[in-house]
Amino acid sequence: MRFSGTLLTALVISLSAAALPGARAQDSDTPVTPASGEQGLAEWEGIHAVFAHPRCANCHVEDDQPRWSGESYGKTRVHAFNVRRGEDGFGNAGLRCSTCHSEENSAVLHGPPGAHAWHLAPAEMVWFDKSSAEICAQIKDPERNGGRSLEEVANHVRDDALVAWGWNPGPGREPAPGSAEETFAAIERWAAAGAPCPEE
Ligand code: HEC
Ligand code: HEC
Repeated sequence: MRFSGTLLTALVISLSAAALPGARAQDSDTPVTPASGEQGLAEWEGIHAVFAHPRCANCHVEDDQPRWSGESYGKTRVHAFNVRRGEDGFGNAGLRCSTCHSEENSAVLHGPPGAHAWHLAPAEMVWFDKSSAEICAQIKDPERNGGRSLEEVANHVRDDALVAWGWNPGPGREPAPGSAEETFAAIERWAAAGAPCPEE
């Protein structure tokens, strides 16, 4: 059988499309060698340091109360004022997040932080008090991460306003390590290395 010119062109196009760097992160068939597994685990350590940081985990809780944790809070506790998740994550009818949290950080020490659409992450996206292995499994699970591919998780970290707040948390609060752009790049490298998770 002879290939027609059109067929060959189509073949070349599909081969070069598969080789595009952007396609890597989505490609679950990428072989994971022991070397890329180790490198991937090292990338995960950096990503985990961000996700488990109080600026992120305080909003990613399993129950219906945001947390106050991290150096500026002294001891770890549930959010004061009996603040609750409510049906939509924006608080109970009587006490919405927007009662206190606005689009901007309060300039006052211990004043309410703020960013666009301040609300709790859905309960299945829980990181607070969870192990590195548990957080890793959640991030990779479309059933629990809002139906996202790893590429989309990386994009969310780069582009979302609540995530961005973690590096601009207002007076007195320690920012998450690194930057949104660095975390985005680390997720891309981790995905390209097969997105390995640590053992329990
Ligand atoms: C004010 C609360 C709040 C803070 C602070 C916050 N998040 Fe979230 N996060 C959310 C909400 C709400 C969602 C759900 C958004 C959606 O699915 O569209 C979410 C979803 C996510 C997701 C996608 C789902 C998943 O589990 O993979 C990622 C990734 C994420 N956040 C990363 C971060 C990181 C990193 C930080 C800290 C730098 C952070 N978030 C801080 C509220 C928050
Ligand atoms: C009655 C006012 C009030 C309401 C209502 C309120 N908050 Fe807060 N919140 C605050 C104040 C004030 C702080 C900062 C306290 C400090 O820095 O000591 C804060 C801090 C937080 C923090 C900690 C951020 C960090 O890591 O430093 C989170 C998370 C949070 N609020 C989430 C929410 C969510 C989600 C809602 C709605 C479900 C909500 N809050 C409703 C006043 C409020």
